[in-house]
Amino acid sequence: MTPALKISNLVKKFGGLVATNDLSLVIEDQQSVGLIGPNGAGKTTVFAQIMGEHRQTSGSIELYGHEISNDTTPERIRRGVSRTYQVPRPFTDMNVLENIRVGMMPNNIWKMITSPPRHSRETEIALSVGFAKADLTKTPGELSMGDLRKLEMARTIATGTKVMLLDEVFAGLTVAEIAQITTLIQSMRKDGMTFLIVSHDLKALEPLVDSVIAINYGRKIAEGSFSDVMNDSAVRSSYLGAA
Ligand SMILES: Nc1ncnc2c1ncn2[C@@H]1O[C@H](COP(=O)(O)OP(=O)(O)OP(=O)(O)O)[C@@H](O)[C@H]1O
Ligand SMILES: [Mg+2]
Repeated sequence: MTPALKISNLVKKFGGLVATNDLSLVIEDQQSVGLIGPNGAGKTTVFAQIMGEHRQTSGSIELYGHEISNDTTPERIRRGVSRTYQVPRPFTDMNVLENIRVGMMPNNIWKMITSPPRHSRETEIALSVGFAKADLTKTPGELSMGDLRKLEMARTIATGTKVMLLDEVFAGLTVAEIAQITTLIQSMRKDGMTFLIVSHDLKALEPLVDSVIAINYGRKIAEGSFSDVMNDSAVRSSYLGAA
């Protein structure tokens, strides 16, 4: 079967720094893969290249068999990939429903402004990620970190995404909020969503992934089951900072 996402020999240089170093990976449709590595390993840079926010120096990215690595970000979103951000990036002057609405029309802000509101679909998405009804008209400044992370996920759902890239989805959350996001991801997995999940919280990541890829200095250092990767000597030494 055609994989959902296939990255081949991806390289990204920022001047002299090689942030992605000959990285290849495959995610099968409806699989969930963890992407781990120490700070600065290049995880977010991989996401930015998948979305076209950074253009790769070389290599290719295929989504369901289509080469997307030269497409614009809205084209990639239309093909079925979307991401969340490590630091949530909502529009601060829009409420929860309005923020979700922007996700529905990534390529046409003007149409969004001039078309009638579609509150039912936005509300449906907001409630599906666990927002309380009373919070739907709140602005991001009034939300907890847990709700901001839910909003990030709601905005990707609104694009109709098939492959969801989650960047540090558990960072800054309470234990209760981590449990809520875990339940949400599990239910989306059951519904057939494909995931690539970056998380420093390995305990939270474990139940959510079929396999894990570890990178360091932009290069893949291990791949396999969660426990195999955790026990890998190169992974252990990269986290400890030892040679
Ligand atoms: N726009 C940029 N310009 C120059 N260097 C960059 C840029 N973005 C990232 N880098 C560098 O690329 C490397 C990888 O950064 P990246 O943010 O992808 O790491 P990360 O694995 O997501 O780290 P963290 O766990 O801290 O989020 C780092 O050395 C970083 O300083
Ligand atoms: Mg990062």
